[in-house]
Amino acid sequence: MIVAQISDLHVMREDRLAYGALDTRAFLLRAIDRLNTLAPRPDVVAITGDLVDEGSAGEYARLRTCLDGLRLPYRLVPGNHDARAPLRAAFPEQPWDREEPEFCLFAEEHGEVLLVGLDSLDPGRTAGLLCARRLAWLDRVLAARAGRPSLVMVHHPPFATGIAHLDGLPMEGAAEMLAIAARHGGVQRVVAGHVHRAMGAQPLGVACTTCPSTAHHFALDLEPGMRARWIPEPPGFQLHLLQPRAATVTHTGFIEDFGARPTKP
Ligand SMILES: [Fe+2]
Ligand SMILES: [Fe+2]
Repeated sequence: MIVAQISDLHVMREDRLAYGALDTRAFLLRAIDRLNTLAPRPDVVAITGDLVDEGSAGEYARLRTCLDGLRLPYRLVPGNHDARAPLRAAFPEQPWDREEPEFCLFAEEHGEVLLVGLDSLDPGRTAGLLCARRLAWLDRVLAARAGRPSLVMVHHPPFATGIAHLDGLPMEGAAEMLAIAARHGGVQRVVAGHVHRAMGAQPLGVACTTCPSTAHHFALDLEPGMRARWIPEPPGFQLHLLQPRAATVTHTGFIEDFGARPTKP
């Protein structure tokens, strides 16, 4: 099974540009074109939050129009820039758990693989939160399918990145979430966004990755005390290969096609 991932689309109102410079909707359309031409076709596209920028119904309508052009099934989780009610209203067909209407949660089987959508949104705050209710839900859905290969989508990564301005606001409940994932086994990856860079870590023994943005990135600033800086590095996506008899692998690719050439003339 191949799960493609894109993240941090930050679709905005028509008259807005990110940092006054970037048309995030145009970047998303390019990402969709790229995903539509991938071979082999991914089974599903995981879109890990910051879908829009201000959480308005108008932004979700613009996002919907873009994603209607994606010729692959996709699943959404909210980020700190999202708002649950207009997100759910714009995407009513997403498999949101109806027993948890306060959140945007889902657990869905794709063949052998369980895809879990976790909601780390804490309205009004940049930092993520996994409250006791969401953690209990995760515990239940993983317990119901113990040991099954699983991929957990969540916007905020459950680890410190080494980039100071990102680590100042850690996700509450991260350690508890990792303990649940480790206890049930089968969790192949926790796939996150939010940090606008590709990273990998293994906190408490749980493999976690973050996906580049379809638009803009944060600079690779590992010096302590650095203030946030954005950088127009190439937008990207990831492919998570869940292989029956081998380790799960995460590939990072670019939206732009740089043109593959044969190694021998
Ligand atoms: Fe973001
Ligand atoms: Fe975010």
